[in-house]
Amino acid sequence: MHILVTGGAGFIGSHVVRHFLTKYPSSTITNLDCLTYAGNLANLRDVEHLPNYRFVKGDITDGDFLMQLFEKERFDGVIHLAAESHVDRSIANPTAFVVTNVLGTVNLLNAAKASWQSNSEGKRFYHISTDEVYGSLGEEGMFTEETPYAPHSPYSASKASSDHFVRAWHDTFGLPVVISNCSNNYGSFQFPEKLIPLFINNIIQKKPLPVYGKGENIRDWLWVVDHAEAIDLIYHQGKTGETYNIGGHNEWSNIDLIRLLCRIMDNKLGRTSGESEKLITFVTDRAGHDLRYAIDSSKLQRELGWVPSITFEKGVERTVEWYLSHDEWLSNVTSGSYQHYYDEMYGVR
Ligand code: NAD
Ligand code: TYD
Repeated sequence: MHILVTGGAGFIGSHVVRHFLTKYPSSTITNLDCLTYAGNLANLRDVEHLPNYRFVKGDITDGDFLMQLFEKERFDGVIHLAAESHVDRSIANPTAFVVTNVLGTVNLLNAAKASWQSNSEGKRFYHISTDEVYGSLGEEGMFTEETPYAPHSPYSASKASSDHFVRAWHDTFGLPVVISNCSNNYGSFQFPEKLIPLFINNIIQKKPLPVYGKGENIRDWLWVVDHAEAIDLIYHQGKTGETYNIGGHNEWSNIDLIRLLCRIMDNKLGRTSGESEKLITFVTDRAGHDLRYAIDSSKLQRELGWVPSITFEKGVERTVEWYLSHDEWLSNVTSGSYQHYYDEMYGVR
């Protein structure tokens, strides 16, 4: 099998690439990534020597390039993660999200369709999406696979749009697709602009922790390694044309999560209890800030037997330990110096 993973140098993508490379040594995994600020080949340093790994630097917004790549490589499957992924950036620059997340996805669909048109037997186009497409919940209820789409941010609107295009290529052209919508991920190799790694880095540096609004918004957190395991199950056993929700039944208000993080960090850094909490600073709320996400992942549990492997407290503790023991990684991504890694490894662009 030859599987194309897009966005494999990013946070979740690097965990997916690592999982597939090590679990399926007889499959070839090609990682296609254009290495934006969020793409970092150092995320794959421990597995890049494996004989079944390939890296292609390329942009999914370039349709001709994708057509040629698919023609040459004859992929058996695609796991599509490449995206602009940060809500705050989507508020600052929405167009980049339309171009990458919508046009980029349509380009990939076109390339897969052209490559598999004579025989799509055994092929699979797996689109990785987010629970944010369902919009925002009040105090009650959970998102199921039947919840109508109601995205609010430019990020979630672009992901919702890409999901619709993936379904359209299935319904109209018979492309063998599958989609999953996952809740907030956390873990190693996450770029420190998202809540958990940003706050870990700020606590290390004793910088303010900017909590949007009153910190009452709720997110449903999942360890990224458990997401990669779910992706493996859905890729191999999910039903074509279906959608699967992925989430850890693990809702936390931002302020409770931040207090937990502060306690763990004080403990690990040998600081006085309560020291990191003093860094909490309430700031102006994010525009259009969704109040609550909560995922009902019972379909995935029932049909494919997936369950998260660790508790949130344990997962956050492991995550904190990882960032504390990877200070070089953290300082490279916060200084931007990781962006030279490609030149060192693969020659000057
Ligand atoms: P990320 O921002 O860490 O990584 C995105 C990767 O895509 C980077 O390596 C980047 O270089 C690459 N990329 C961006 N534009 C590209 C382009 N035009 N061509 C080729 N590569 C490009 O994102 P992430 O957090 O790992 O998210 C991965 C996927 O999972 C996204 O589709 C996201 O919507 C989805 N998702 C994320 C979460 C989460 O909590 N992070 C939750 C659910 C779903
Ligand atoms: P984030 O990690 O950006 O994920 P998403 O917006 O996709 O859920 O944010 C998680 C929550 O934390 C969200 O409610 C916004 C909030 N937040 C802050 O309060 N301060 C911050 O600096 C960031 C980045 C997020």
